[in-house]
Amino acid sequence: MRNASKYLVVRNWLRYLSVAAILLSSALSYAFAQGRAVAPAPTGPWMDKSLPPDRRADLVIGQMTLDEKIGLVHGGRDNPALPARSLGGAGFIPGIPRLGIPDFQMTDGRSGVANTGRRGRYATAMPSSLAAGASWDLKLAYDYGVLLGKETRDLGFNVSLGGTANLIREPRNGRNFECWSEDPIAIGKMLGRSLKGTQDQGVIADINRYAVNDQENGRTIYSANVDKRALRETDLLAFEIAIKESDVGTVMCAYSKLNGTYACENPYLMNEVLKKDWGYKGWVMSDWGATHSATPSALAGFDQEMPAGQYYGDALKAAVQKGEVPMARLDDMVHRMLRTEFALGVFDNPPAAHPVDPFTGAESAQRFAEQGMVLLKNANGQLPLKASLVKSIAVIGSHADVGVLSGGGSDQVDAAGGNPVPPVAGVRGPVWHRSPPLAAIKAKAPGAKVAFDAGTDPASAAKLAAASEVAIVFVNQHTTEGRDVTSLTLPDYQDRLVSQVAAANPHTIVVLETGGPVTMPWVDNVSGILEAWYPGIRGGQAIANILFGSVNPSGKLPVTFPKSEADLPHPALPGPPATSPQPANTAAPQVPFDVNYSEGLKAGYKWFDAENKTPLFAFGHGLSYTTFSYTLLKATASGECITVTFNLKNSGSVTGAEVPQVYVSLPASAGEPPKRLVAWDKIKLAPGAGKMVSLEVDPLYLSIFNVDKDAWEVLPGEYKVFVGGGSRSTPLTETVRIAAR
Ligand code: BGC
Repeated sequence: MRNASKYLVVRNWLRYLSVAAILLSSALSYAFAQGRAVAPAPTGPWMDKSLPPDRRADLVIGQMTLDEKIGLVHGGRDNPALPARSLGGAGFIPGIPRLGIPDFQMTDGRSGVANTGRRGRYATAMPSSLAAGASWDLKLAYDYGVLLGKETRDLGFNVSLGGTANLIREPRNGRNFECWSEDPIAIGKMLGRSLKGTQDQGVIADINRYAVNDQENGRTIYSANVDKRALRETDLLAFEIAIKESDVGTVMCAYSKLNGTYACENPYLMNEVLKKDWGYKGWVMSDWGATHSATPSALAGFDQEMPAGQYYGDALKAAVQKGEVPMARLDDMVHRMLRTEFALGVFDNPPAAHPVDPFTGAESAQRFAEQGMVLLKNANGQLPLKASLVKSIAVIGSHADVGVLSGGGSDQVDAAGGNPVPPVAGVRGPVWHRSPPLAAIKAKAPGAKVAFDAGTDPASAAKLAAASEVAIVFVNQHTTEGRDVTSLTLPDYQDRLVSQVAAANPHTIVVLETGGPVTMPWVDNVSGILEAWYPGIRGGQAIANILFGSVNPSGKLPVTFPKSEADLPHPALPGPPATSPQPANTAAPQVPFDVNYSEGLKAGYKWFDAENKTPLFAFGHGLSYTTFSYTLLKATASGECITVTFNLKNSGSVTGAEVPQVYVSLPASAGEPPKRLVAWDKIKLAPGAGKMVSLEVDPLYLSIFNVDKDAWEVLPGEYKVFVGGGSRSTPLTETVRIAAR
């Protein structure tokens, strides 16, 4: 048998085996969930579907005892009688069968169903939320949420935790891969669509971690300090937009303090902004162990303690009995939970376990990954690789022979078939998904000699690179909940690896698998750079499709890549250094400290613009295998609305999608950073085709928050409009005037 056909036979067998493993684990999950499904027999006037959710909730509450109410406002982890009914997910709250109130069965994860309580229960590992954010595609964001919601439901759960609205203020934050962007409007719109997609599947989604939990170092003890205007216009704006777009059922308050008060007992966050200003109807649950009191929390607007009842069990009951917490407040907590269950169909149409469909999931995951990868550099049209011409390829580093990396912590989806890179004993180490880029590259270029080097010895890698036509170096930075990275430098001497390979081969392409920005001292010495993020269960195939041009890259950076940490608002990670290893769910530093976001409004690219610093790669940047031209900008104001129209043309030779971005400078009197993103679209065009694009800018996105008036306002004056394919690439500008009212 010739080598190529031998390879095909082996590859097909491996494929069959991995599909069989996935099907088996999917079927086992189904059987398990079936065995545990609780089927309350709902009766009572509140089961009348024609009544509004608020009325139905009140009817149930009228029948509840004090103990039953208290039982709903805290998790059931410390109740030894309950595990049999729990599916064993991230959280569980017993329902009340006599009233037909279903159990709250909670899982984690936005990039797939995680923390399901049993290892190996199959769920699709999608690319990270940041990868989805990099697609800038609202339809894709919705589909991403749909897949998550569907699988959450198929596994028998009815609450999906983990929709992160936190801003990427701190590029070293270990949880950046769970975030969507550094821009509040981009987060709000993209995450909002995704949460809507999840809830449209009849499960309750969650937005977290409210608010300004933008680093992990010391997360249970630091106070994030931001002035009120900046707070409303940055971190809280992301929550405000996402909540409005999705009507998300629950908000998770953060571990950290905001301006000196713990998030979960912060009246400004919960009573004033969330419930009063935004009119939020769902409930606030704590992050796991983030509750600090009964009465102050209850009076601040906090509704549910997770995962157990240290404060919201007997202590809250006593506070209600003493009148410290009015019964009406307890009823309000319960009302918020029940009305959400009624509104989303959790009462009327509870999840019934079905086998998860691994095939559809994997196909979608691949599409999401392909749409979110960002081509950062492509010198001399090095990419796409021409399969019929390339004779030899060196594939180097980052376990590219076995899989792709994923982010750690509560977003960690189990690896189907197990982790192919066994972690060091005793360490919950990096998890790799079995989608080897090496095999996918071989499949794309069957006529080429493709060889692999582990990259652990730069000299040996450079030798292979020198003997090959093209070198593709895979590098990674693992990030995880509970621990920030100490630096944006790639770990394990990978910079040295890239530099030595690049010195040996002028056709070196770097593929990054990272949770966020990293520095690249070798940027000028390589010809191609692709940011693949944590790309999920079909990441290897997605990377190969981009490298060989089967898919034209269209992702854009949702986060600025700095040249060096010295250029950041906080050159050093705030707080005392984390001890290593850090215990899960605890903050390593033990002495409370302040994280002063004195840069205020200047988060992300706004800092770089305001400080006149040139980033390594700017927010919104991303290349394509085609080119786009922008012409005919017209911006008009009507009242407080701006409409922007322009022509976008594919001026290159292959079909491709572009993300035209609209930025606006506010009048000088606003005292804002130089510009802010206010609108975008994602448009696919055939070569030579053009389109008139018309985008309306929501007045909220043009507003400033007036602290004296405690209100948003659009200031009269001149607004400069910028349009282009990146925050630093805006060929069209026009000025438009908003009149005084
Ligand atoms: C995380 C949350 C997660 C919870 C339950 C916490 O440590 O911060 O995002 O939902 O654990 O697993």
